[in-house]
Amino acid sequence: MSKRIIIAAVAAFAVSTSAALAQEVKVGLILPFTGVGAELAQQMDRGIEQYLKLNANEVKPYTFTIIKRDSKAPNGAEAKVAVQELLTQDKVDVLAGWVYSPDAIASAPLVTAGKKLSVIMNAGTSFITNLSPYYVRTSFTLWHSSYALGEAAAKTLNAKTAVVAYSDYPPGKDSLDGFKLAFEKNGGKVIDAIPAGGPGAVPDFTPFFQRAKDEHPDVLFVFVPAGDHATAVVKTYAALGMKAAGIKLIGPGDIVQDIKLQGMGDAAVGLVTMHHYNADLDNAQNKAFVAAWKAAYGADSTPDFTSVGAYDGMAAIVHAVHATNGAMDGDAAVKSLLGWKYVSPQGPIMIDPETRDIVMTEYLDEVVKGPDGKLHEKVIDKTENVKDECKALAFGPCAPKK
Ligand code: PHB
Repeated sequence: MSKRIIIAAVAAFAVSTSAALAQEVKVGLILPFTGVGAELAQQMDRGIEQYLKLNANEVKPYTFTIIKRDSKAPNGAEAKVAVQELLTQDKVDVLAGWVYSPDAIASAPLVTAGKKLSVIMNAGTSFITNLSPYYVRTSFTLWHSSYALGEAAAKTLNAKTAVVAYSDYPPGKDSLDGFKLAFEKNGGKVIDAIPAGGPGAVPDFTPFFQRAKDEHPDVLFVFVPAGDHATAVVKTYAALGMKAAGIKLIGPGDIVQDIKLQGMGDAAVGLVTMHHYNADLDNAQNKAFVAAWKAAYGADSTPDFTSVGAYDGMAAIVHAVHATNGAMDGDAAVKSLLGWKYVSPQGPIMIDPETRDIVMTEYLDEVVKGPDGKLHEKVIDKTENVKDECKALAFGPCAPKK
């Protein structure tokens, strides 16, 4: 081979590899693929898959390789190892996932050291985004829903007294703080706050709810992480005859997760929740999303709020990839998302440039039985552009560190 041909071949190879490198984006996805959160992980994994499928034109010319790592039990230990390995061994361009707050809290120092955009697609403890400048959240905080519900419980439901039962870990404490602050500002009184087990296993809620029943509040506000915890909450509420005793069950939408709703039966009818998403939302993006989901995974399947957090998180990643021309420098990628706006299946969303947290619509929903004999979410009221009030008010753990 002549010298000139060899040089040309090397140059052609260099061009093709650099083009290929620029096109491929490696996403490290940390989710609990096994254990108590496995169903949530599947919902989120599918949310990402659907985003990439439904938005193939927006994604071009990039290709996304998703490297999945199992965070297992929600205690932070495995999530930390996963983040470390994704950054140092797999050399990912971006990190994403985190169902449970302890996993995102434990990962924060590594996320900061890794300097890569890290998109929180579920974990909802408010202060998490303060723990690393590389965290951007497309899911929610418990303050978004619980603070809004505190206001609505007093003003719309006319409740005077409430008992709060919550899973005893950071997002549960946030839901208690947010609900109590807003409810009491509007004239209500939280007469008891009952820690009710943790996220790692579904407890028997009977003793906690019996205590609440004996206190005769107007409403029982419950936060538990979505999944089997939510089903157990509604079943125990029904088994103790609390509805007949005149106590209304309310909570963030985590307790009526779409994938669990039909299994809750008639006991769920009348439940009032506050959330940013339900699969019945009537808008064009959601109709397309739900239809594509059912076509892909079966008529009885449904997306839920965890799927949407992942779908929107993938949209955020794709935006950052285009904005940085595929380079995905962490600082530039985060910067590109400050003030980013997107029309999601949940409605319009934005990333707050001050806090890197989501701004979205909160819907006050009631569970109703439809003419099809199935349970549905009926929107009673909505508030647009809801910010995370924990950070807006610099409340307790959200106050900037001195
Ligand atoms: C959390 O751990 O932050 C979490 C998990 C599941 C939820 C909500 C919050 O439904």
